[in-house]
Amino acid sequence: MSTQKSSFNHNQDVVHKPSKTFSSKARISSMAAYKKLYKQSIEQPEKFWAREAEELVWQKPWSKVLDWKAPNAKWFEGGKINVCENCVDRHAVGPRKNKAAIIWEGEPGDKRVITYGQLQKDVCRFANVLQKNGVKAKDRVLIYMPMVPEAAVAMLACARIGAVHNVVFGGFAAEAIVDRLQDSGASIIITADGGWRRGKVVALKPVVDEALARYDQVSRVIVLKRCGNEIAMDAARDAWWHDEVATVPSKHVAKGFDSEHPLFVLYTSGSTGKPKGILHTSGGYLTGTYSTCKYIFDMRDDDVYWCTADVGWITGHSYIVYGPLANGATQVMYEGAPNAPDFGRFWKMVEEYGVTIFYTAPTAIRAFIKAGDQFPNAYDLSSLRLLGSVGEPINPEAWNWYHQKIGGGRCPIVDTWWQTETGAILISPLPGATPCKPGTATLPFFGVDAVILDDAGKKCKAGQDGRLVIRKPWPSMIRSIYGDKERYKSTYWSDYPGFYTAGDGARRDKDGNFWIIGRLDDVLNVSGHRLGTAEIESALVSHPAVAEAAVIGRPDEMKGQAVAAFVTLKAGFEESEALCAELRNHVGKVIGAIAKPDDLYFAPGLPKTRSGKIMRRLLKELVCTGKVTGNVTTLEDPSIIENLQRKIAPHPAP
Ligand code: PRX
Repeated sequence: MSTQKSSFNHNQDVVHKPSKTFSSKARISSMAAYKKLYKQSIEQPEKFWAREAEELVWQKPWSKVLDWKAPNAKWFEGGKINVCENCVDRHAVGPRKNKAAIIWEGEPGDKRVITYGQLQKDVCRFANVLQKNGVKAKDRVLIYMPMVPEAAVAMLACARIGAVHNVVFGGFAAEAIVDRLQDSGASIIITADGGWRRGKVVALKPVVDEALARYDQVSRVIVLKRCGNEIAMDAARDAWWHDEVATVPSKHVAKGFDSEHPLFVLYTSGSTGKPKGILHTSGGYLTGTYSTCKYIFDMRDDDVYWCTADVGWITGHSYIVYGPLANGATQVMYEGAPNAPDFGRFWKMVEEYGVTIFYTAPTAIRAFIKAGDQFPNAYDLSSLRLLGSVGEPINPEAWNWYHQKIGGGRCPIVDTWWQTETGAILISPLPGATPCKPGTATLPFFGVDAVILDDAGKKCKAGQDGRLVIRKPWPSMIRSIYGDKERYKSTYWSDYPGFYTAGDGARRDKDGNFWIIGRLDDVLNVSGHRLGTAEIESALVSHPAVAEAAVIGRPDEMKGQAVAAFVTLKAGFEESEALCAELRNHVGKVIGAIAKPDDLYFAPGLPKTRSGKIMRRLLKELVCTGKVTGNVTTLEDPSIIENLQRKIAPHPAP
């Protein structure tokens, strides 16, 4: 099998055991305790998950924990639950009423603290606003917001009334909004005038207007005034958030919905040109995010937790909104960039708010390493007790820096492996129990039956590369690709019938730790974000000068992977630096800045098989090593490779 090799050498002998001080206070405090509970959870997963779900508030108890007819799972059937009630109301009525739920900081330095009591009022008001605007259970609501508390309020208000939110990352362009509106059929959009990013206003409402010029099925746009930038308001369609909430009561009854009631759709890249809508439902998703937060972040009432993700990604859904709030946590939320005004911003905030649990991505850690130790050195980070990593394999250099410089050598690091589809973390150390080796996400969470299989479906031996597979259903798993059950089945459940294939290559070491090697499909992981090669290719081809395009990922020291594009121009167009810049910007305009190719090569022809399939494998080898050594017998025109070779400076793995 061909897997994309990770770019670092695994020194598998370096082991960091949790300290006695940490372990003695942790929920799972030894490997023996982990192994015992893991064994039970695999032998009787329904018993384990039922016990976790019992810690949530159900308006009607379930009659059956799991109904499993592969690939369709129904968790907690018969049960009725309100996800928002679990994240907000149950804390707002008890001793956590005046506890900070969200400590928010805007990029310019403005601050707000929202208690659970206040959050309940805000969410109830917005739930009333949605209903006043005709939103009903199962209706789709598109949310396109900056990182402000109202983004979480909008999501929770949807959950409260049983509407299905579709959050679109604020960095995506109008086309992404149009695609998602078309696929989901949303008729209402929640947005803001703009958000702050690196000292500038990133306008959002104008992007929505651009999208709605091409899609006319949206009848209402509710706009939060965040930056005060000038925007157009269509009197018949658009309304201000502050005007809307002023007219409704701050009380709202949270009705229970079926456990399998849809909660949200979040679009993510796959191997085709259009992102797929990953559908998550209520009771199981909440159980998974609640339970993983509790055990993996070992979350306590006096913790100050901070996940630096954006709510536009699954990490923001599961580990900013649903998991931490279901646990009644206090969390920090930040609007802007890590380097605004300089690379000390995160550490300044850790010091100021006494952050105890900090969850970020390897790409951010690498940027901090590059910026220099003077930034973390200037702040007191002694409040931290636990660190987390997500989105891509963390290279040992980044792991060690994070451990020493940020964690002061005392904080365990949970390297959490999961996906938009898995809803919650599936493989991760438990901080008080698992010995960590830099670079591995270590061992499966309770109830998660993870294995690595070879192409024939046989379990791989230690050290052998294979495909990461989950053999049992888990509560927070994807339920479908929105509107396409068949694609759901063929994408995730057909490689090994009855088992979930994650799309990742992996291997286990002799201690059973899982080392994630990377994606096996045409999906890139750029700064921890998923982008499909086909999506970027289709954006390039939508430019009038482009006849054909091929996109591959190459190793990049900062981003993990960078985007390299090969473009064949239509007759009549000349290769030029200006056109190169124009094409890069075009991708930025069609998809968003994160998808802009880092390298763009003009290619008079692309290497193809005789049947016309582009051989991206050869392009990848060429970009990484400067030559092609693999099998080229199927290549239609070998001179194409020779031509390209002259243009390319190799980018070896860092
Ligand atoms: O390749 C894996 C990588 O990110 C992919 C999932 O991307 P997405 O759905 O956008 O979710 C990202 C946040 C959960 C996976 O298939 N990935 C994620 N976490 C890790 C990882 N690779 C290695 N180690 C991780 N901890």
